[in-house]
Amino acid sequence: MSFDLVLFGGTGDLAWRKLMPALFQAFRHGSLPEGGRIIGVGRDDLSAEQYRSLIQSRFDKVDLAKRPSAEEFARFAALLEFVRMDLSKPDDYAHLASSLQARNANTVVMYLATAPNLFTTICEQLAAAKLNTPYTRIVLEKPLGHDLASNRTINHTVRQFFEEKQVFRIDHYLGKPAVQNLFALRFGNALFEPLWRREHIANIQITISEDLGVEKRGAFYETTGALRDMVQNHALQLLCAIGMEPPINSHADAIRDEKLKVLRSLKPWTQESLTQDVVRGQYASGSIDGGKVPGYREELGVNPQSNTETFVALRTEIANWRWAGVPFYIRTGKRLAGRDAHIVVNFRPTPHAIFNSQIGVANSLVINLQPKDGLELHLLAQGQNNRQAKAGTAPALVPVQLDLDFDKRFGSERVGAYERLLLDVIDGRLNLFVRSDEQEEAWRWVEPIMNHWNSDAQGPRMYAAGSWGPSASSAMIARDGYCWSEES
Ligand code: BG6
Repeated sequence: MSFDLVLFGGTGDLAWRKLMPALFQAFRHGSLPEGGRIIGVGRDDLSAEQYRSLIQSRFDKVDLAKRPSAEEFARFAALLEFVRMDLSKPDDYAHLASSLQARNANTVVMYLATAPNLFTTICEQLAAAKLNTPYTRIVLEKPLGHDLASNRTINHTVRQFFEEKQVFRIDHYLGKPAVQNLFALRFGNALFEPLWRREHIANIQITISEDLGVEKRGAFYETTGALRDMVQNHALQLLCAIGMEPPINSHADAIRDEKLKVLRSLKPWTQESLTQDVVRGQYASGSIDGGKVPGYREELGVNPQSNTETFVALRTEIANWRWAGVPFYIRTGKRLAGRDAHIVVNFRPTPHAIFNSQIGVANSLVINLQPKDGLELHLLAQGQNNRQAKAGTAPALVPVQLDLDFDKRFGSERVGAYERLLLDVIDGRLNLFVRSDEQEEAWRWVEPIMNHWNSDAQGPRMYAAGSWGPSASSAMIARDGYCWSEES
């Protein structure tokens, strides 16, 4: 099967950091279909040879194990081409069209790794140049818009020229092996399903923490913030994976229908819950790994009075029979204590204690996404000291855990998120991509938070870089009588 992958934003940040390394891994693993071509599109006047050298120079920054040897790069580079385009000029699309028609590949993937405000123009121009054939697939990077209205405008334009089955909306969290294992855990095993409900689960916590700051993306981040950058997409997709009903089969729409139902069931915001159940924070200077780091307002491209949030913690509920009354907590932020993404499912405590130290202690299942990828089941076991227990007193129990490390178990066979998703696009598999209605529902749900913050004079709460965020985040969860996993 031959394919042409056209990378709009071919010299941009995403192409450098994620897409090219992922395409190279797919090439190295032998999973990229033969006869493919990767066409970088950008504004610079580069020859194919210059583009290849540019890409090669960037591989110096990739982990050693994932870096190509000179011989490997030469073979990979043979797939790379470059087309200079001004994305507003019809002639440039005509030029692209002639280069694609000359080869007549079975599949043409248009990957829009550009600023979202260019998406509608690109789609319109592609259609005007008759590049929206039935063999075309279009990939849209997040953020898709900056609110519900802009998201709908993009989706509306895309729908005019492409069918939904041709549209691949990326949320790279869905491509992470750990998230696929979460689906496997829930729907490939019968063990947890009877327990996966309000009768047995006390609360669920989703944490996506990063130790990095905004790096060189200050200007982008200023108009985005953590709510749009992480909550509207990645965190809500994780919440869907945890909360959804078992789909009727593994087809894309069966899965997406169930995720959509979760998003529709999220408890609507009220003035009271917006005040009490959402915390916005911004990092001040602090220390990471023993080194001093600046605060967000001192970062390049950031307004020194900025109120943009770099941290969000919130509490919500899924209002349906399975989950009514169970709090779901989401927390994400930059410059936190570590790079750590995990989900904790806290089960209810035993109803009656016959052992010492059992009162109030409950089991939990931890789904680790990164840097570790695995599962931990926290249980209580009989320690070694029972012989010391006085006659007539109950023996004490100690916490133990079953620990499953997927990296150790599956090792080198693992495929990274972007590699997996790019191969899925080329093969036409939509399971791990987001449908427009899901995306719109997620925007609809976060929008009251954005509106509330716009009219809230208080601004974000400051937290020291290297901490777990503002204390209000712990206070929010403590109101329900719980604490975040690292505090327990
Ligand atoms: C991206 C966000 O979608 O996800 C970034 O735009 C964030 O701000 C990144 O750093 C986190 O992804 P990962 O895979 O490193 O957890």
